[in-house]
Amino acid sequence: MKEDSRNIAESDFPFAKGRAEQLRFLVNYAVLAPSNHNSQPWKFCIHHDQMDVLIDKTRMLSFIDPHLRQMKISCGAAIGNVEVAAKYFGFEPLVTLFSHSADSDVVATIALGQKVPEDPHNSSLFKAILRRQTNRRFFADKTVARPLLEKCKSLAAECAVDFTFLTTDEEKERVANLSEIAIRYQHNQPWFRREFSSRLRRHTSDKTGMSSFGFAPLNLPTPLARFIMDLFNSGKSSAKFNRRKILQGSPAIGIFTTKVDEQQAWLNTGRALSFVLLELCTEGVSASFLHQAIEVDHLRPQLAKIISSRGVSQVMLRIGQAPKVKYSKRRKVEDVFV
Ligand SMILES: Cc1cc2nc3c(=O)[nH]c(=O)nc-3n(C[C@H](O)[C@H](O)[C@H](O)COP(=O)(O)O)c2cc1C
Repeated sequence: MKEDSRNIAESDFPFAKGRAEQLRFLVNYAVLAPSNHNSQPWKFCIHHDQMDVLIDKTRMLSFIDPHLRQMKISCGAAIGNVEVAAKYFGFEPLVTLFSHSADSDVVATIALGQKVPEDPHNSSLFKAILRRQTNRRFFADKTVARPLLEKCKSLAAECAVDFTFLTTDEEKERVANLSEIAIRYQHNQPWFRREFSSRLRRHTSDKTGMSSFGFAPLNLPTPLARFIMDLFNSGKSSAKFNRRKILQGSPAIGIFTTKVDEQQAWLNTGRALSFVLLELCTEGVSASFLHQAIEVDHLRPQLAKIISSRGVSQVMLRIGQAPKVKYSKRRKVEDVFV
């Protein structure tokens, strides 16, 4: 059964009301975007018929994401979902992304412009918003169609983001080696284990965080997984498990890079991520994140070398097909407005 936040009736779109009400409705789709550790680090403020998108710094992971990069990518993904939904309901989304500003949490504004005609491709992306999910299973040994990966590349390029895909065993081996070093490095730090495990949740009350399903060879109940991670360094077994997933359960790997490493590039990466994940979902293809090599500062440049890119790596995905998993939870939409 779909969880509550996915039970959105399209027919409730307030065509007869003003821009403010319409933007408010679109936030139902924004909150279904992926976010780092399901932190849902966004807030929305509607005024003068436009909507500010704010970063919610109270949800920060100070060790894993000290520069708020992943949080801003997540806000970008929420913006991408709003763009797709706005077009579906017939409005041109007018998005302004801001550069970093120390004294403001507003990262973007969105307004609704003139009417746009129906676009069948966008409509299929829109339908995928409710179905998309991060899937941490091993993917089936089935090739991901090249035209689909090429389409993802062109969607990312529209956001000034490069999407490179790897499909050969040799390339995967190099990614697996780097990820293995990154996982061992991270798990060696008690602060990493504590911060990561604090985001493992049973989804009881606050509806943020991730279940432990798919992170380790044994799917232990989340409280037990959390306890073990806090106390023991399981880096070696996690690294091995992840290596096997890359080599045997990832028909394709996709890497997003940008020319520069700053707020607008992160927001654009998030928008590109939203479009790419929705595109994959329309074709019944799943994805999950491989972030360790990007999170460890001194290893990040090595990932760009693997793909011969002069850019900066922002997001890495495993891509393939697998049975669905349980949907992750979301906060109530009323709770994300300021
Ligand atoms: C910037 C970013 C980084 C992420 N990093 C990881 C990661 O390192 N490992 C992982 O398993 N999932 C990662 N995710 C996926 C989130 O955990 C997932 O989006 C969140 O739990 C919500 O679930 P959903 O995508 O199924 O809606 C990341 C997502 C984003 C947007």
